[in-house]
Order: sequence, then C-alpha cells, then structure tokens
Amino acid sequence: MSATENSPCPHAVGADDAEWRLDLGAPEDTERLAACVAALAAAGDVVALWGDLGVGKTAFARGLIRAATDPAEEVPSPTFTLVQIYEGGAAPIWHFDLYRIEGPEDIWELGFDDALEEAVSLIEWPERLGRQLPLRRLDLELTFAPELGTAARKARLIGRGPDWARRVERIRADFGGDA
Ligand SMILES: Nc1ncnc2c1ncn2[C@@H]1O[C@H](COP(=O)(O)OP(=O)(O)O)[C@@H](O)[C@H]1O
Ligand SMILES: [Mg+2]
Repeated sequence: MSATENSPCPHAVGADDAEWRLDLGAPEDTERLAACVAALAAAGDVVALWGDLGVGKTAFARGLIRAATDPAEEVPSPTFTLVQIYEGGAAPIWHFDLYRIEGPEDIWELGFDDALEEAVSLIEWPERLGRQLPLRRLDLELTFAPELGTAARKARLIGRGPDWARRVERIRADFGGDA
C-alpha cells in the first residue's frame, strides 16, 4: 500500500482503523487534545483537520504546535501563505491550509514530499487533496455543537492504519477517557 493510495470514501472507518468520539466543551479542551496528539506525533505523520470554517481547525493546530515547540509561538492561520513551517520541536511541523489551493497536485509544489519525509503535516481542508491525501493518517473531524454551548465542539478522531489506531487508544487514555 503506497502512502498516498486513497480510500474510496474519506469518512468510512476500516477494519485497521480506530475511532473515538468526544465532546470538547471549551477551547481549552481542544488545546489539551492537541497536546495529547503532539506528544505522539513524529516525522512522517499526517494529521488531517476536517470541519467547517470557524470550527477550530486552526485552534487545534495552534495547540499542537505550541505543545511541540514553544507555548508563546504565534501560529497565524496559513490562509494565504498555504503553509507555515515550525522548527524547534522533535520534528518540524508543516501547517497547511489548502482552502485556496487550485488543484490537488499543487500540494507537491508546496514541498509536500519533503514534509512527508521529515515533518509532521497538519492539514486544514484536506478534502482539497482528493486522491493525494495519504491513507495512513490521523483524521480529526470537528463539528459545532450548539446544544452543548457556543464554545463546545464535537470531535471525531480516526486513526487510519494500525499505527495510528494504536495511538488513538493512547490519546484517549492520555486525555482521560470520555470527556
Ligand atoms: N471548543 C472549541 N474548540 C476550538 N475552538 C473554539 C471552541 N469554542 C470556541 N472556539 C473558537 O472558535 C474559533 C475557531 O477558529 P479557527 O480555529 O480559526 O477555525 P477554523 O480554522 O476551523 O476555520 C476560535 O475563535 C475559537 O476561540
Ligand atoms: Mg483555519
């Protein structure tokens, strides 16, 4: 299985995958989840951040980058730059926002092959990648949860492939089970 071979449906959960759903009652919960993922992320990893505008994809990425590098790191949204690179942690972190990418192939012009080799890739708007989205990855899907409060979100983590599936179970244990 090649790293970029794609599954027919990006939201289906396969036999080798692990899924965990939890509620994030406030931005601090999202930050804490991000720190739990940061502790297990390594070079070559891909974390795909799914969800609507304003749901918290960048907030999650910021939390992960700060946990991995410097708590004072600024982490602007890469809306216009498309990618921002952070050094200083165990591995570099490439933070992508692909909303404005013209076509899936354009990811390679941004140096995605280097990122896949040597960095952790955090990808907002991963749907823009179509078949270029790596199959082995962590998916985080965020949705608004107005019934739980304006600052609440529902999260769905899917570890795709055995390695990420194991790590989802660890993230769940580290976070403290069901929030
Ligand atoms: N539980 C939560 N998790 C993450 N962000 C939240 C939460 N509750 C409220 N917010 C707010 O929602 C906004 C999310 O913005 P942002 O992360 O830029 O969204 P996106 O990148 O998905 O477009 C921020 O203003 C953040 O403070
Ligand atoms: Mg964003």
